Amino acid sequence: MKNIVVLISGRGSNMEAIVQACAAERWNARVAAVVSNRPDAAGLAFARERGIATAVVEHTRFASRESFDAELMRAIDAHAPDVLALAGFMRILTPGFVEHYRGRMVNVHPSLLPAFTGLDTHRRAIEAGCKVAGATVHFVVNEVDHGPIIAQAVVPVLPGDTPETLSARVLAREHQLYPRALRWLVDDLLEVDGRQVRQRRGEPQLLT
Ligand code: GAR
Repeated sequence: MKNIVVLISGRGSNMEAIVQACAAERWNARVAAVVSNRPDAAGLAFARERGIATAVVEHTRFASRESFDAELMRAIDAHAPDVLALAGFMRILTPGFVEHYRGRMVNVHPSLLPAFTGLDTHRRAIEAGCKVAGATVHFVVNEVDHGPIIAQAVVPVLPGDTPETLSARVLAREHQLYPRALRWLVDDLLEVDGRQVRQRRGEPQLLT
């Protein structure tokens, strides 16, 4: 049975979707811990109610990114993670941290990468006149939001959309996309060749 550790900074709805899919689909894995950099992250309460171990490593208490990441690593490694899932974790990670979890750390980003890396993706997509938007699950590498793409989901951008309405449409797809991609990682079904990620069984890596 593999251990998944999920990092959150806030609401944690993707973490909830992962916890629920893991139980409902009887993955060969368990969510061993949920770790947050904010003590007030709403998702922590959900994890505690489910009996999942939680930890808080507050970034504000550390003088440098390196010392924060070192403590974060200790909190994570206490749960022997096979998979580390960033789910709305809003911190930039140091190269040492990224290297430590290379190949087992993934992230969900609310845009169709490589478009709209960084923050405020929905407002920027609307302002750019995009007709589609979506979400991406990718391996984490040093350059933020640039790792090999495991799976993407697309949604339409509709006339009159606001960042809020578009965000809600994308988030609903994230909740399907992220558990699916994570399960592939748990089941060793992903083959990485440079920037190309292939699902060994040919399952669709695009969710429409
Ligand atoms: C999600 O939309 C996720 O894609 C985004 O934050 C939200 C977290 O929601 N992540 C990023 O922007 C990372 N750069 P959640 O806490 O309810 O899962």
